Amino acid sequence: MPTPTVKLFSKQEHGHLLPAIAALHAACIVHDHTIATFLPPLENSKIQTFWEGIAREVDLGTRFVCILLNESEPGTRAKESELVGVVTLSMPFSETGSFRGFVEKLFVSPTYRGRGGARALMCHMEAEALKRGKTLMLLDTEIGSQAESVYPKLGYTEAGRIPRYGISPVGGLKDEVFYYKHLQ
Ligand SMILES: CC(C)(COP(=O)(O)OP(=O)(O)OC[C@H]1O[C@@H](n2cnc3c(N)ncnc32)[C@H](O)[C@@H]1OP(=O)(O)O)[C@@H](O)C(=O)NCCC(=O)NCCS
Repeated sequence: MPTPTVKLFSKQEHGHLLPAIAALHAACIVHDHTIATFLPPLENSKIQTFWEGIAREVDLGTRFVCILLNESEPGTRAKESELVGVVTLSMPFSETGSFRGFVEKLFVSPTYRGRGGARALMCHMEAEALKRGKTLMLLDTEIGSQAESVYPKLGYTEAGRIPRYGISPVGGLKDEVFYYKHLQ
């Protein structure tokens, strides 16, 4: 019976999963029409290069990444097919906002939805944020997306809405809603 586990991404341990993370990112754009940096026609190599950049930010300490693995053999090297979710926290340098973190790229595999994957990822991410002194979480998502219903359930408060914010993969400008959560 596969076991779902959230892990903190490290290049050494999980670098081989970057193509799977890029494929999950692409799947959410294609399957859910999620507004997430890239527009169709998608190029896998471009999305993978983007995630290699994210991995460099992890090395620099300006971001961390949590991954959700549905492991068949816990304790062994994770397989690409076991990667079912991801979320990142960006922590750009700021002396005036050293306690802020920006939640980005929460994706759960279309085959693994509604099983608490997003909740587990966000819970782990928040615990890791607190360890780094990050107590104010900020994020945004498209109005009308599934995520708009999910974030309030995870304790996030709406801060406001911006019309015509981002280009949808299916065309047209979509409105965005912003959320925050104080962890302490
Ligand atoms: C949004 C997304 C991450 C949710 O992932 P998930 O693993 O299915 O979510 P969970 O099972 O952990 O559910 C978390 C909570 O949200 C609720 N929820 C999940 N999907 C929902 C939906 N479509 N509508 C309403 N509520 C929903 C669950 O009931 C649960 O609440 P509860 O614990 O109080 O019962 C997933 O649908 C996804 O990856 N979508 C495409 C990418 C995307 O939009 N990412 C966000 C970009 S900002």
